[in-house]
Amino acid sequence: MAEKKKLSVAEIMAAARKADSKGAAAPGSKPPAEPKPASEPVEAQSAQAASAGQEPVQQVVEQPAAAAPAPKSKPPAGGAKPSVAEILAMARAQAKDGQPPQPAAAPKPAAEVRPAKPAAVAAAKTPKPAPAEKPAAVAAVAGGKDTASILAAARKTTRPGPMSKAEAAARLKPAPERPAKAPAAKAPAAVPPMPARPDYARRQPAKDAAVAAEDRRWFLSVALGSFLGIGFTSLATTLGLWTLGLARFMFPNILTEPPSRFKVGFPGDFPPGAVEEKFKALFGVWVVNAEYQGEPQIFALRTVCTHLGCTPNWLDAEQKFKCPCHGSGFYKDGINFEGPAPRPLERYAISLADDGQLEIDKSKLFQEEMGQWNDPASFVPV
Ligand code: FES
Repeated sequence: MAEKKKLSVAEIMAAARKADSKGAAAPGSKPPAEPKPASEPVEAQSAQAASAGQEPVQQVVEQPAAAAPAPKSKPPAGGAKPSVAEILAMARAQAKDGQPPQPAAAPKPAAEVRPAKPAAVAAAKTPKPAPAEKPAAVAAVAGGKDTASILAAARKTTRPGPMSKAEAAARLKPAPERPAKAPAAKAPAAVPPMPARPDYARRQPAKDAAVAAEDRRWFLSVALGSFLGIGFTSLATTLGLWTLGLARFMFPNILTEPPSRFKVGFPGDFPPGAVEEKFKALFGVWVVNAEYQGEPQIFALRTVCTHLGCTPNWLDAEQKFKCPCHGSGFYKDGINFEGPAPRPLERYAISLADDGQLEIDKSKLFQEEMGQWNDPASFVPV
């Protein structure tokens, strides 16, 4: 069994024309060839319609049996069914004349022609007449404009849409040149006059000397007479005294004691049995001319009680030294004889100076209980 050869679109179209020219096919006649699927013819038709300015929406899916009539199918009433070539011819005529095509024959029942889309079927059945704006849009496409410009031209709106650069440059009008404004001459700012100076701001004349002195006296009286002045004056005085005391504290004390070595006079100034007290207050010494162990001597007794250190008094009437503290008594030569004093009074060193005067040296002490009174430095023999 030989394989069926696939026919091209041209062959199918030629077979269809041939069948149309012969009229109705004889019953039982064998179809010339098996048609191909309708995909390719439909695409070709859409391309042709687009080139002709029509809407490329017609998509007719033709069954394989449409090109070759089925043996058992009945012929359509009213004439032969339009072939694909006829449909294409009508579409071309419509695109060329701008008139709706007239069907050359009655259309095939819808059962035999199955449209891919309802719009395509409607266009196949009753092709829409081309609108009046269609040629303008086609012309715009031919002029190289974009889709928006084409739509604007088709709608005939006054609003300009996107346009080509040439149109934009043509429509763009140069802005009218405005005359340059001459810079206005600035008027000098009005300066308000200076206000008159009030009296309190004016410079006062210099006061004379009398008025100035009166003012000073008034200031001093107020400053010193007020409580505030008194307080500050007291504070300043206190601070001054504190400062002086601090300065005195910073210096060492100065001993005002008399010298330890001093002269009391010539030996003739002290008669026998006399007790001189004039050196007691200043030097703490009694100068006595008396006998000690049967020898007349001039010696210097220390005016300090040997009990607790009090200062005894010489009682000329009683011819004794009497301590006021605890009642100790001492003879004229200094030997203790009453009271709590445990030992005799002490002697200072005494000697004759170069000038013949008696000179006392308090830096040296002589004690009787120690046998020191026999020292020649402790007395001057008479
Ligand atoms: Fe002189 Fe006591 S101190 S008797």
